[in-house]
Amino acid sequence: MKESKKHISREIGLEIGHILGKGLFRLEHLHYGLWKKGLEPDILNLHTAQDEYCKFIISHIPTEVKTILDVGCGAGAFSKRLIDLGYKVDCVCPTEYQNKLLEQRLGKTSEIFKCKFEDIKTDRKYDMVMFCESFQYIDLDRVIDIAAGLLKQGGFLLICDFFKKHSADACGIKGGHKLDKFMNLIGQSSFKIIEDIDITAETAPNLDILDKATKEVMIPVVSAAERFFQSRNPIILKLIKWKYRKKIAKAEQKYLKGNRAGKDFAEAKTYRLFVCRKVK
Ligand SMILES: C[S@@+](CC[C@H](N)C(=O)[O-])C[C@H]1O[C@@H](n2cnc3c(N)ncnc32)[C@H](O)[C@@H]1O
Repeated sequence: MKESKKHISREIGLEIGHILGKGLFRLEHLHYGLWKKGLEPDILNLHTAQDEYCKFIISHIPTEVKTILDVGCGAGAFSKRLIDLGYKVDCVCPTEYQNKLLEQRLGKTSEIFKCKFEDIKTDRKYDMVMFCESFQYIDLDRVIDIAAGLLKQGGFLLICDFFKKHSADACGIKGGHKLDKFMNLIGQSSFKIIEDIDITAETAPNLDILDKATKEVMIPVVSAAERFFQSRNPIILKLIKWKYRKKIAKAEQKYLKGNRAGKDFAEAKTYRLFVCRKVK
């Protein structure tokens, strides 16, 4: 798939995820939840797990930080929470749908850069540039230098996201930069890693929840819809199935046979919090 088409389907996927999550499960964020011991991995507990994820990040913001650039801030729920805690927060968001929600939520308190991070143009300098599950979407060859240019001397880069552990990633869950490449790039950059925390075990239950929802809700709904069309318009259904046969086969492979559970995620990915300081 061409990069622009990929980008559009990813953004529409996030938009649908936000509408369903907020409407059905009171979810404000687009990131995984952090499943602490004792919290049952159930979709009804996802808003609590997302809240734990926010608290975890807040507890790792260095005390010197007053100004933050929240990159790929989604609908801005976390930015708003940081503003309420007294931080001055600006946002980067390339999506029209999310930008509308951001403007409603943040009003004039924040500058919203309505573009990709790679295209940001500003003279402002921040104490911290933050990526909450948005790092994987940014061009890895450029992101570190651009972040360095937006930081004051001694400023911080906070990344909370998952990475691929192995170059041959057989996991059915897409996404994540290669960890070894990131480590190489950060090692050669003006940053020094001051915190590196592995939260793979606490984030992997999100995949079990998604896998369960796919198998117990999405697939039965699609199958019922198919039977409905079969009873009303069998010829058109046959034509549609033929036209999209490759896509259907791909989706069946991905959702029915794909390795998409928590254990597959933990095997192939590593979810990390990195706090890095600009030292040069
Ligand atoms: C998984 S969501 C995370 C949203 C939010 N940070 C949160 O924690 O709820 C990823 C976000 O990255 C944004 N994004 C994707 N590509 C981007 C880019 N090149 N530059 C800036 N943001 C990007 C998407 O629009 C989306 O808001």
